Amino acid sequence: MEKTRLRIAVQKKGRLADDTFALLKATGLTIKENKGGLFYRIKNLPIDLLLVRDDDIPGFVFDGVADLGIVGANVYEEYALKNDNQRRAQCIQKLGFSHCNLCLALPNTEGYADLNDFNDKTIATSYPNILQTYFKKGGISASTLEMHGSVEVAPKLGIADAICDIVSSGATLEANGLQNVKTIFSSQALLLKTTKDLSTEKKDTITKLLSRFEGVRQSKETKYIMMNAPRSALPALTKLLPGAEAPTVMHLEGQKDSIAIHAVCRESVFWETMESLKTAGASSILVLPIEKMLA
Ligand code: PRP
Ligand code: ZN
Repeated sequence: MEKTRLRIAVQKKGRLADDTFALLKATGLTIKENKGGLFYRIKNLPIDLLLVRDDDIPGFVFDGVADLGIVGANVYEEYALKNDNQRRAQCIQKLGFSHCNLCLALPNTEGYADLNDFNDKTIATSYPNILQTYFKKGGISASTLEMHGSVEVAPKLGIADAICDIVSSGATLEANGLQNVKTIFSSQALLLKTTKDLSTEKKDTITKLLSRFEGVRQSKETKYIMMNAPRSALPALTKLLPGAEAPTVMHLEGQKDSIAIHAVCRESVFWETMESLKTAGASSILVLPIEKMLA
């Protein structure tokens, strides 16, 4: 095993793969792509990306074939449960992207009262272990039909009564005449780390990478907000600014009682927040993204 270059297993293609590459690029990694190859080399840090199928990532990280891995919580959890929790790599960070839900869905033509409706039914899924664990807790006895890909066609083919699959926008369910009746697991991308010993060089690279991920996360949430307001509204407006330190206050030329307020908000600024600011007296409210941050 390579001693100095950190190896990160990532999904070869798919939505999570796109989000992963976007994150890696945002952290400043220069990726030398090698189309069709197993490895992509990072030019400006001692890192190699191992491009594999998502289902292989939890096992590769557990076994130390890769030092780190980026994979959906759904895939990680299914693998861990399948192996009776004996092969669980360490999850060191929730990455906050590729959010999706694992849901039970029925044909639109079926009614639904509660979970008991699944008793004695057959459910097609790529996640039989997560599903059976969930049913066991709820005292439901149902059979699972394990399928990999095109799970949504199973009811139409008459091989299952329902499905349990990943729902993101809901378009796949809609296109197949299915209704989402119950979310059983919420997923997002995770950063996994092997439990095997790592060299000092690799540990240093991980520390650097984690701090850059954190910087990307913060700058994504952090916004620069600007507004004008009557001076008397300042105390009320300051209270409404989400996660902001002392705002900068400037006077507006030729307007004795009006000020401009600028602040860095460390939490999301929602439309509701802006509406409250407006109600409290602010006008010309602008919210700007921040590209990079180093505290
Ligand atoms: C999942 C899932 C559905 C689709 C749902 O597949 O199996 O097919 O996404 O997304 P939607 O609600 O936005 O339509 P994915 O693309 O993750 O690939 P997979 O075959 O590897 O599961
Ligand atoms: Zn897959």
